[in-house]
Amino acid sequence: MDLGLKDKVAIVTGGSQGIGKGIIKVLKEENVNVINFDIKEPSYDVDYFKVDVSKKEQVIKGIDYVISKYGRIDILVNNAGIESYGAVHEVEEDEWDRIINVNVKGVFLMSKYTIPYMLKQGKGVIINIASVQSFAVQRRVAAYGTSKHAVLGLTRSIAVDYAPTIRCVAVCPGSIRTPLLEWAAEKEVGKDHVEDKIREWGEMHPMKRVGRPEEIGYLVAFLASDLASFINGECVTIDGGLRALIPLSSPKIETK
Ligand SMILES: NC(=O)c1ccc[n+]([C@@H]2O[C@H](COP(=O)([O-])OP(=O)(O)OC[C@H]3O[C@@H](n4cnc5c(N)ncnc54)[C@H](O)[C@@H]3O)[C@@H](O)[C@H]2O)c1
Repeated sequence: MDLGLKDKVAIVTGGSQGIGKGIIKVLKEENVNVINFDIKEPSYDVDYFKVDVSKKEQVIKGIDYVISKYGRIDILVNNAGIESYGAVHEVEEDEWDRIINVNVKGVFLMSKYTIPYMLKQGKGVIINIASVQSFAVQRRVAAYGTSKHAVLGLTRSIAVDYAPTIRCVAVCPGSIRTPLLEWAAEKEVGKDHVEDKIREWGEMHPMKRVGRPEEIGYLVAFLASDLASFINGECVTIDGGLRALIPLSSPKIETK
């Protein structure tokens, strides 16, 4: 596929594993210069700068590194995110702050310090990885669910404030096979039953499986390209049909 992204410069946050790694793989196939901002070192070949997206000084340092090395930022993918479980009465204040700081403030800080360069360039695209939990939530994800709803608000704010120079789009995945999903499965059913749990979650998606990180990567690459030049302020769901389904049983169709 040639999406016309050759030699563009992209920052992907949280790219050391999971969805971010899948996004980076696809962007590299499109010959994009990618820089991975993550707190964890990647175990594969990619330009890497250690950044905790919730820390202003680290974000500024990372962006300075990219500008001094590449001179521009064409694409920002805000993918870094963390999850935890708990209903409101169970979530400690520190835990609430931790989730909101990474999932929401991280998107704010990365965007805040990238946007001036995009404005100076006269063009840029910001893609935020939100979730199907930006629209509806599973039980006991008060902080995470709130953070993913907030990402849509931030996406729309950036989209309307900086158009037509900068486009901002959210991507809302269903369950995607990543270390985060495996962690969630293990937390629910224990180490020995992770595969069964992921299969069960997959069965809940009309496509009968969970997604793959590269499938998010293909969508992100398209949205970052000029082929998507009229898509702005929108959230694109990529969930194998999960949001289209009402989980109520139906009678069998009787055929004669
Ligand atoms: N996996 C899913 O089913 C799924 C579904 C919907 C949305 N998402 C979202 O996709 C994104 C990626 O999820 P994933 O499943 O690949 O997760 P993951 O935990 O497998 O990978 C996340 C990466 O982000 C990095 N990271 C965490 N905190 C960071 C910080 N403060 N600064 C910089 N990097 C940080 C981690 O080190 C890790 O490399 C998240 O925003 C998540 O909420 C995931």
